[in-house]
Amino acid sequence: MRSSSSSVLWAVVLLVAVASSTVARASHDLSGSLKVGFYEHSCPQAEDIVRDAVRRAVGFNPGFAPGLIRMHFHDCFVRGCDASVLINSTPGNKAEKDSVANNPSMRGFEVIDEAKAALEAACPRTVSCADVLAFAARDSAAIAGGIDYPVPAGRRDGRVSISDEVLENNVPFPTDGVSELVASFERKGLSADDMVTLSGAHTIGRSHCSSFTQRIHNFSGEAGRTDPSIEASYASDLRRQCPPSTDDMSNPTVAPLDFVTPREFDNQYYKNVLAHKVPLTSDQTLLTSVRTAGIVVLHAAVERVWQAKFAAAMVKMGNVQVLTGDEGEIREKCFVINH
Ligand code: HEM
Ligand SMILES: *[C@@H]1O[C@H](CO)[C@@H](O)[C@H](O)[C@H]1NC(C)=O
Repeated sequence: MRSSSSSVLWAVVLLVAVASSTVARASHDLSGSLKVGFYEHSCPQAEDIVRDAVRRAVGFNPGFAPGLIRMHFHDCFVRGCDASVLINSTPGNKAEKDSVANNPSMRGFEVIDEAKAALEAACPRTVSCADVLAFAARDSAAIAGGIDYPVPAGRRDGRVSISDEVLENNVPFPTDGVSELVASFERKGLSADDMVTLSGAHTIGRSHCSSFTQRIHNFSGEAGRTDPSIEASYASDLRRQCPPSTDDMSNPTVAPLDFVTPREFDNQYYKNVLAHKVPLTSDQTLLTSVRTAGIVVLHAAVERVWQAKFAAAMVKMGNVQVLTGDEGEIREKCFVINH
């Protein structure tokens, strides 16, 4: 009885999700002021150079694929997709790279630097670091899971990067609930559907334990208590992988975001959310609103729908507050602004 009435509920929720996401797709021009094939004449080999560098790096260390996808997200959410996340701190300035949201967890900077060096040799001062990062994120998704899509380009690089801005209403927290996440993405012009769709990137890669130790060892501030929304056997696995001593940003211990297929860019993440087997509160919370839960159900049920929506949402995210035309600059080295 109970299970048949709850499957009717899920079916209704699923239909609502299908209907609302189709309407959302049809009404958006996804490429904005950027253009697919922007370097067609000025540097025709640009996208191949980036793809080769990413392929080589990911062959050497598969962790660069999730690293680069996340890096593009953290770039776009702070001052738009302007490569501000790539700039090194200087004696007078602590940059985004050194925010606790990025250091030490962000990986793949050397891949961008390598691609950029090859680009400067082929086409000096032509291809922006912000575009290199957008291409590299796409290539990572393609290599890890066969999601490929044209990336509109023509972004320019910013000249400002400030550590404190990362967590000031920009990059969301792993402890956020669904309404905070929706609000966070809305501030960037992205919908709740985009948020759920892009969260599917948590189907690869890892999290440092410290992002969820309070959830498994000290839930609601009660020592020894675990968040009851985590499935019991998975919770004991997490507690074993991440003992209380790992509750510190500087502790290097990590756990996979998708414990079933940690290196495949598939829709397993959504199945894990439905099974209550995900480490971050920000992932499990997607089941707590009917609207976002419906989208989780849809993506878990039909992988191709998620794949197509993921590609479109990445393009949309790649448009957030971009600099174009003669704004900003084309950085010569991605880790330092031009003199
Ligand atoms: C919805 C809000 C989000 C929150 C709160 C969030 C939070 C996190 C956290 C805490 C980690 C673990 C980092 C570490 O300790 O190494 C992580 C990893 C990751 N995130 Fe997110 N994230 C969100 C959305 C996204 C989006 C939109 C993308 C890309 C489209 C993304 C891509 C990734 C990837 C690929 C990883 C694995 C990184 C690696 O293995 O190096 N995340 N995220
Ligand atoms: C448990 O949570 C409470 C409330 O957030 C906090 O004050 C306390 O320091 C935490 N204890 C540990 C061991 O993390």
